[in-house]
Amino acid sequence: MFELPIRPRRNRKSEAIRNLVEETSLKVSDFIFPMFLIEGDNKKNEISSMPGIFRFSKDKLLDEIASCKDIGVKSIVLFPSLSDNKKDKLATESLNQDGLYLSTLAEVKRNFPDICLMTDAAMDPYSTDGHDGFVENGEIINDITVEILAKMAVAQAKAGADIIGPSDMMDGRVGVIRQALDHAGYTNTSIMSYSAKYASAFYGPFRDALDSAPRFGDKKTYQMNPANRKEAVWEAQLDLEEGADILMVKPALAYLDIISDLKNNFPIPIAAYNVSGEYAMVKAASANGWIEGDRAMMECLLSIKRAGAKVILTYFAKEAAQFLQKGL
Ligand code: PBG
Repeated sequence: MFELPIRPRRNRKSEAIRNLVEETSLKVSDFIFPMFLIEGDNKKNEISSMPGIFRFSKDKLLDEIASCKDIGVKSIVLFPSLSDNKKDKLATESLNQDGLYLSTLAEVKRNFPDICLMTDAAMDPYSTDGHDGFVENGEIINDITVEILAKMAVAQAKAGADIIGPSDMMDGRVGVIRQALDHAGYTNTSIMSYSAKYASAFYGPFRDALDSAPRFGDKKTYQMNPANRKEAVWEAQLDLEEGADILMVKPALAYLDIISDLKNNFPIPIAAYNVSGEYAMVKAASANGWIEGDRAMMECLLSIKRAGAKVILTYFAKEAAQFLQKGL
């Protein structure tokens, strides 16, 4: 009849051979688990738009980190949720070593010295304006913000942070943070730059979790336009030159092309932030029985890694770790 000598399906004929030729696989050590911190004691409040994700008081956070460690999740990034009376225009509370965030960082590090502890360096959790920058007459002022971020980074390094994560998208902040850290003696503190952070609709549940939505306007004068691709390479190039150790793309799933571009252009590790809205979509669809939640979760994470991200910040970290442990 006809001959078909080339048959790609031969490499798919059994699970053993499929595993053998598999190009990408996930490991628990790829994940960073984002966690939310609140004031008080003995508190563990679920975030309604992020089922399975909680805001923890310091004591409960320490328990949760212990349970993460047990299943192999050894990297976390911590975000604070502050009451309004701790907020001001200059994000002053972010420098308070006895305040909620910095004292908790120190305690986490004391209890878990081998955990890789990443911080959020941004003004929005501490700012009455809810913006990632200092606001004057309705405008976000770049250079004043950069100065504040540099002080914040040094305070976080002092508290014991391993990685500083500037999530703000101000110009030049990586270089100024690097200089400030080095001058203060923190030459070993890393910077994971949110290099290509887009003005995205997928941050909604996170802003609910922290009550950190902008009080006016939007974040389009600093976060990137989702239409732009080359600009991401430019932003990443600058961050590399300014001394970033890891470059991040955010969000992840709608930006796999950007992850791939950065992977192909730069020699340092690429990270991607599988953000709150991406998590919420999978959870909502699976709660409705519209998709299989576990399989969708693993497929999303695998796609992000296949696109080129070695490091994945994801609210699925614990669940995916359990999934990998079961060997499913
Ligand atoms: C702000 C910040 C945001 C996230 C992390 N840091 C939201 C924003 O830019 O408004 C979003 C994370 C997520 O959606 O999971 N500094």
